[in-house]
Amino acid sequence: MSETASPAALKKLHIKTYGCQMNVYDSERMVDLLRPLGYAVSDQADGADLVLLNTCHIREKAAEKVYSEIGRLKELRGEKEARGEGRMTIAVAGCVAQAEGQEIMNRAPAVDLVIGPQAYHQLPELIARTTRAKGERLSADFAPEDKFDALSSERHVTGVTAFLTVQEGCDKFCTFCVVPYTRGAEWSRPVASIVEEARSLASKGVREVTLLGQNVNAFNGDDGTGQESTLPRLMEALSEIPGLDRIRYTTSHPNDMTDELIRAHADNPKLMPYLHLPVQSGSDKILRAMNRKHGRQAYIDLIARIKAANPRLALSGDFIVGFPGETDKDFEDTMDLIRTVGYASAFSFKYSKRPGTPASSMPGQVDEAVADARLKALQALIIEQQQAFKAELVGQTIDVLFEKLGRHNQQAIGRSPWLHSVFAEDAAHLIGQIVPVKIIGLGNNSLIGELEKVYAKEELA
Ligand code: 5AD
Ligand code: SF4
Repeated sequence: MSETASPAALKKLHIKTYGCQMNVYDSERMVDLLRPLGYAVSDQADGADLVLLNTCHIREKAAEKVYSEIGRLKELRGEKEARGEGRMTIAVAGCVAQAEGQEIMNRAPAVDLVIGPQAYHQLPELIARTTRAKGERLSADFAPEDKFDALSSERHVTGVTAFLTVQEGCDKFCTFCVVPYTRGAEWSRPVASIVEEARSLASKGVREVTLLGQNVNAFNGDDGTGQESTLPRLMEALSEIPGLDRIRYTTSHPNDMTDELIRAHADNPKLMPYLHLPVQSGSDKILRAMNRKHGRQAYIDLIARIKAANPRLALSGDFIVGFPGETDKDFEDTMDLIRTVGYASAFSFKYSKRPGTPASSMPGQVDEAVADARLKALQALIIEQQQAFKAELVGQTIDVLFEKLGRHNQQAIGRSPWLHSVFAEDAAHLIGQIVPVKIIGLGNNSLIGELEKVYAKEELA
């Protein structure tokens, strides 16, 4: 079936994405792959011909959600069949598929297909086989293949911002983390293929791109001459693309923040002054047990160097509380590090024991109630810092990329350099534009802005 198939002939695809931004990217690419097969995205699982769960394995809760969702889908499948609307195919993709493929097959017989993150370019073929052989359950093998070669650089995008995966996998082996096992070894895409995809995005109106990788700052893709490139050099190449005016990257490991990358925060005007640099803990003892391969002071010194390169730069981070052996004093060290560094935002998690990781068999597993209390205290501190950072912006004029219309007629919603939502009245004519906006107040999770003027067409990019 071609892309021009009549709407009535389209099959409904419902895709549910769990976990990180890399899964969001993968989901978009899976939709791109399935579109030529006649699938159109539906925001409802009810009545869908194909439901794809793109799963996350990072914490136990995230993985368990998948099984309860499969139970719900089984019921919807029964109802669909009872209505005489044909069978619903249920596919599980992503990191749970990679880590627990066989277990899913055993535990959830309703699942037709299990496909890991490195194999999803085989999705069209596998789906066709599954749907033809009604009820046949297939499990893709997880040999890491160069799926990017199989993907077109043409993307179907509608917005003005996009994710772009440039690196996958992790060699760091933090003792709590499943990523090195689910996503495999560090691997970077060649520069040329990334630039081609970014050009395609820009030609479709994308103004801001977030480069993704589990360890994106370890990027070392082929530069086209057989040499390894670096993330700052890749970003320089992307900065040449007309229309692409904002670049971000996530997630990074402190040990891969090279001098060249730090310099890019001073020298590359398209690089946004916002950096996600997880530290996980502020205790040297816990950092060692986590195998983070750096100490507390090294992180604090690194932040000082990055902020010296770009004083406008703000930070976000990830924190884990209740790691095995974490005492009140260790936790206090984390709180103290947060106070010392100062974050514009952060994600924080209670340690979750993951089978097969070294930390899961460490002594000193922390009591649930203690971990709960630590998480609450840490989150309160982060919210305080987040609010303080936002409050500082009031009265300042900042560049905003307008993304979509707001609820009122002429209101538009945009993005600050630090990923805040910014609401402005009389800005409906500015979707896709980056303009200075004066911040005049704070919303719940947002900033309220005011335009300096109404822009004439000729003034806009
Ligand atoms: N338990 C809790 N949080 C975890 N993360 C990774 N593994 C675990 C785990 N086992 C968190 C880390 C990481 C983020 C993506 O998820 O903070 O940076
Ligand atoms: Fe997991 Fe550590 Fe690798 Fe991040 S750096 S993906 S936390 S192993």
